[in-house]
Amino acid sequence: MTDQVLIFDTTLRDGEQAPGFSMTPDGKLRLARAIAALRVDVIEAGFAAASPGDAQSITDIARQVEGPIICSLSRAHRGDILASATALRDAPRKRIHVFLGTSPLHREYKLHMSREEVLEAIRTSVAYAREFVDDVEFSPEDAIRTERDFLVEALSVAAAAGATTLNVPDTVGYTTPDEIGELFRYLGEQVERSAETIFSTHCHDDLGMAVANSLAAVRGGARQIECAVNGIGERAGNCALEDVVMALRTRADAFGVATAIDTTRIMSASRTLAQITNSPPPRNKSIVGANAFAHESGIHQHGILQNRETYEIMKPEDIGLQTDGIVLGKHSGRHALAARARELGHVLDGDALNAAFVAFKAVADEVGTVDTARLSAILAEQSSHKPQ
Ligand code: KIV
Ligand code: ZN
Repeated sequence: MTDQVLIFDTTLRDGEQAPGFSMTPDGKLRLARAIAALRVDVIEAGFAAASPGDAQSITDIARQVEGPIICSLSRAHRGDILASATALRDAPRKRIHVFLGTSPLHREYKLHMSREEVLEAIRTSVAYAREFVDDVEFSPEDAIRTERDFLVEALSVAAAAGATTLNVPDTVGYTTPDEIGELFRYLGEQVERSAETIFSTHCHDDLGMAVANSLAAVRGGARQIECAVNGIGERAGNCALEDVVMALRTRADAFGVATAIDTTRIMSASRTLAQITNSPPPRNKSIVGANAFAHESGIHQHGILQNRETYEIMKPEDIGLQTDGIVLGKHSGRHALAARARELGHVLDGDALNAAFVAFKAVADEVGTVDTARLSAILAEQSSHKPQ
C-alpha cells in the first residue's frame, strides 16, 4: 500500500502573517472553505492570541468548515494555549500547535532562556495543551539551526509530554535537500516517541528550496508537509501546496507516497486566495501561474496541437483548469493560427493562410498577445479582401 503524507495547510496562519496577505474574517472563512474542498488534512486557521479578530476567525472556521482538523497556533504560554483552546472549542476535530525557539540565536537573543528552561517550557506547555485536546503539535522554531543533540532532546521532551506531531521548521529557509533528508533520518532514529508520532516538515523559501526541501524531508521520513496555497508565507513564503502536491502526484514513481488532495480544486483555491488578497501569483509561478499551461512559440504550439505531452507533464484539467494552452503572439506559427481560426469558423489554407499570417504577425508585433477579439478582426479583414 502507498504511504500517505498528510497535508497541513497554513495559508490562513503563516501565509496571512506576510505583508500584503492580511484577510478579513469573511475572506478567511471563504478561503478556509476553498482549502477544505482540496481535502487537506489540517487547516491552521490562525494564531488565536494574535488578535480578537483572529480568534473569532478561528471560531468561525471551527464551527462552519467541515472536513479537516482545525488548528490554532500558540506560543509556549498558558494564555496563548487557553486562547487557542477557547477559539477551537466547537471544532469537531481540533489541534493546538505549540512552538518555542530552540536554536542558540533564539535562546540567547529572543527568549533569554537556558537549554534547561526551554526544555521545561516545552514540557509544561505541551502538557497544558493536552488538557484541552488529544491532538497537539510541537514545533522547535528554527529547528534547522538548533544543535542536533538539543533538537533530539527538545522533540523527545515534547513527545513525552504528549505531542502527537513533531514538526521540524526551517524557519529561515536555510537548509538544503540533502541536509534535511539526512536530518529527518537521524531524528527518526534518535527521538524517543511512540510509534504513532508523526514527523512533519515546515520549509520556508528564502533560497527557493522550500518545495525541494519538503520533498527531501518526506524521503527522510516526514509524513506531514506544512505548506500554503500559492506559496505565501513569511518573507519569501512557505512551501507551495500546489507544487508539492503535484510533484508527489506527477512523480509518484520517484516518491512512492500519496496525499488525499483533490487536485482538481487547486486552481479554484489559488484564485480564491488571489481574489481575496488582490495578489495573483506571478505569471510564471509553477502549476497556478497564468503561463504554467500556456504556449506561445510556434515550435511548442505545433507539438501541443499533435500531443500535449510533448511540452506538458501534467494535464490542466487535473488542477481544475480548462484551457487549450495556445496563446497567439509574435512567436506563434501557422499551425496554431490555422487551428484557432478553424475554431472561429474560418478554414484557412494556401494563400489565405499566408495572408492572414502576415497580418497576424504585424498585429502581434504591436500588441504582444493576440486575443480572440483581435484575431476575429484580422480574419474578418482578410475575408473582405478575398477575390469574389
Ligand atoms: O517558520 C516557523 O518556524 C513557524 C513555526 C511557528 C512553525 O512558522
Ligand atoms: Zn513558518
